Amino acid sequence: MKMMKKTLITLGLLSASSLAASQLANAGEVEVLHWWTSGGEAKSVAVLKDMMEKEGHTWKDFAVAGGGGESAMTVLKTRAVSGNPPAAAQMKGHNIQEWAELGFLTNLDDVAKANNWDGILPTVVADISKYQGHYVSVPVNVHRVNWLWANKSVFDKEGLKVPNSWDAFFKVGDKLKADGIIPLAHGGQPWQDATLFEAIALEKLGSADYKKAFVDLDQSVLSGDKMVEAFKTFKKVHNYIDTNSPGRDWNVATSMVISGKAAMQIMGDWAKGEFTAANKTPGTDYVCAPAPGTASEFTFNVDSFAFFQIKDKANQKAQKDLAKTILSKDFQEIFNLNKGSIPVRLDMDMSKFDQCALDSMASFKATSKSGDLLPSMAHGMSTTSYVQGAMFDVITNFFNDSNADPKQAAQQLAKAVKAAM
Ligand code: BGC
Repeated sequence: MKMMKKTLITLGLLSASSLAASQLANAGEVEVLHWWTSGGEAKSVAVLKDMMEKEGHTWKDFAVAGGGGESAMTVLKTRAVSGNPPAAAQMKGHNIQEWAELGFLTNLDDVAKANNWDGILPTVVADISKYQGHYVSVPVNVHRVNWLWANKSVFDKEGLKVPNSWDAFFKVGDKLKADGIIPLAHGGQPWQDATLFEAIALEKLGSADYKKAFVDLDQSVLSGDKMVEAFKTFKKVHNYIDTNSPGRDWNVATSMVISGKAAMQIMGDWAKGEFTAANKTPGTDYVCAPAPGTASEFTFNVDSFAFFQIKDKANQKAQKDLAKTILSKDFQEIFNLNKGSIPVRLDMDMSKFDQCALDSMASFKATSKSGDLLPSMAHGMSTTSYVQGAMFDVITNFFNDSNADPKQAAQQLAKAVKAAM
């Protein structure tokens, strides 16, 4: 008996070491560029690093701080142009197409086929991930952008209801202000200004005109009356943020809501990742609600990794393993629990997810049928990076100029878009 046990242990050790040896033989390095540096984001990306290391690969972290990813994209350009791109880079819809068109990305069809990506991904997401019908990127999650986050005890103490329209927002905001609480936590950076503006514009335009403006770039809708209304409301909202907002990072704004210094934030559900990292529970500590007046719409923001052509064979193998891991059920669950987003696979067990995620999933499915599933302009899903940049300029300049005129702003928006098309 003793002998048998010993043999079994030896055999066990042997197979473990031969496994380690075979892993080592196939081991490569993956260098991954991303902008996930806040508390919740860092916890989320650590999941991917751990999984890759468990498979025997080396993870080379290439983090470039800056919400929305503008700085990361600038750094990526320098690296790629010098002929030394990372294996994978976090990227958004239209950017993927732009990089693929330039011939930088690698073909992932073999991994996609072996793992049935066409079968497990919603069509709208599969389309984003492909260039001319071939997979060149891997989607990680689906973020809903049109959310409002509120500190529950602030609302309870003030005897207020979380606003579901802009009129209600202004009433609630007046009371909060009078009581010394900042109504809206906001970070004055172009992408955050655009995130807030997009939520307001969606309420004013409705789904059909939102698409005409931000996807089709229709001049008459961009400069039209509803857009003027959006700028008017946007201007009014400026009275409900604090004077320290310029330059503030989005996660600092979220922490103001967590601490109760501010009552609300309008931000995508990566904000939930910050609440989760601070051990806060939805429904008890905070409330997630659709951005005012947008309960039946869903502005989506899919994070993807674009895969670059790299030379080293072992690293190519590691790169394919990374692609496979990202869409595995295990990764999709743990990552999205931390990140605040919902899994990009539709065949997931959602029992560990909270009510905000379940609401988001239900809305994602419903809006994909109703026509109210809309690509986020602020997060690079609706149009090219050039047009997006032109829109950011007009939106941010308007927001920071107290004398700016809403009617002129809408005309400028149309003009700037035309010039960037
Ligand atoms: C990305 C999120 C990220 C957020 C803030 C968004 O553009 O899609 O994944 O958490 O920026 O950094």
